[in-house]
Amino acid sequence: MVGTIALERHGTSSDTVSLLRSAAIDPARRGHGVGAVLTAAVLRRVDAADALVALLTETATECFSRSDFTLVDRAQLPPAQEESQELRGACPSSARALLRPPTEA
Ligand SMILES: CC(C)(COP(=O)(O)OP(=O)(O)OC[C@H]1O[C@@H](n2cnc3c(N)ncnc32)[C@H](O)[C@@H]1OP(=O)(O)O)[C@@H](O)C(=O)NCCC(=O)NCCS
Repeated sequence: MVGTIALERHGTSSDTVSLLRSAAIDPARRGHGVGAVLTAAVLRRVDAADALVALLTETATECFSRSDFTLVDRAQLPPAQEESQELRGACPSSARALLRPPTEA
């Protein structure tokens, strides 16, 4: 295995928000574009569903800013996101929140 990435979907059809999580590349394989390929692949799925995407990270804010994510206060995350275990304590409170708006098809 070279790396992982995952999407969690929360909310109903009217307020769907996807959480991009578990992005991790084998340390020996980092810096060769694998993370960018995996990120683009999951974002294509989100764009097809026209959904907002949230992300919590302690380490890769700059990296995801390149994929149209913007830093926000955690309080600005959509209410549907509160279903996520990451917001319920799995992710440290020091993690920063980023949001990516739906893209126009
Ligand atoms: C963040 C991570 C997934 C990126 O994977 P990667 O395969 O190394 O990334 P890529 O090689 O595709 O890099 C894409 C770009 O982002 C940059 N980048 C990668 N990690 C970065 C970081 N932590 N901070 C800032 N920029 C970063 C790269 O320099 C590259 O820039 P370039 O296109 O100008 O060369 C990987 O470093 C990782 O597993 N980190 C530890 C876990 C983590 O922090 N996960 C994110 C929390 S969800």
